[in-house]
Amino acid sequence: MKETSEKTGSNIVLALDLTQKKSSNLLSKSIGMLETVYPYICAVKINRQLTLPLGVFEGIRKVVNFAHDYELPVIMDCKINDVGYTNRAIAEWYFKAGFDAVTANPFVGWCSGLDQVFEAANKMRKGVILLVYMSHKGSEEGYGQIVQDQETSKLSPQYTVFAKKALSWGADGVVVGATYPEKIKEVFKFLKNRVPIYSPGIGVQGGKIESTAAAGTRFFIVGRAITLSEEPDKTAKAIRDISKRFMTEY
Ligand code: XMP
Repeated sequence: MKETSEKTGSNIVLALDLTQKKSSNLLSKSIGMLETVYPYICAVKINRQLTLPLGVFEGIRKVVNFAHDYELPVIMDCKINDVGYTNRAIAEWYFKAGFDAVTANPFVGWCSGLDQVFEAANKMRKGVILLVYMSHKGSEEGYGQIVQDQETSKLSPQYTVFAKKALSWGADGVVVGATYPEKIKEVFKFLKNRVPIYSPGIGVQGGKIESTAAAGTRFFIVGRAITLSEEPDKTAKAIRDISKRFMTEY
């Protein structure tokens, strides 16, 4: 990510979440969107809006290959959240389909949980990005609850415990919603530049590049603000230009 970000001069991850009633032209629309905005992004993030209708080894592999042709890494936002052997299978299949990284949920823990995902990723030289605080309102109910940190026995917010785990588990990134700059600030204060922060929720969900960047976000995940725009290329460029002002700080 660091390399492509430097090469492209962008820190925008496109959330390619196109939706349609019929899947027939979803593939060509997805590829068309990439073709339009690729100069302004540093990576692509795919979610179930595309994997379910297109199929991972059918349509999705074509989208992944297309992004790779432009040297853009592709993240599968699958939020892995099961027991170890299932987690491993999920991660391995996505990696075999060409994805460069997966997202995973630290709520399931390490032993016989996410240990298997990290093992598979290390073996296949891929990445794991952990959820630390999500962008929606209900995030507070889980990621924001006060828990007893098992290491220190102190009462701490769940997300700060997850940020510590991201560092000790060797995560390649953490997700903290752009809608919560104060949480980004807190997580950044601990992680510094050791694990980069990815923030979804820019635009449609209300997050702003300026406050998010000032708080410590390295990569901005942007979906509908670009994909639903009348002129996705112009919008992507405008968002890239705003975010670019903050790139030198890291
Ligand atoms: P929009 O259209 O809101 O798309 O720009 C955002 C994309 O990011 C996903 N999303 C999240 N993924 N943690 C994640 O790992 C989050 O807190 C989070 N919030 C949004 C969303 O599903 C969409 O693909």
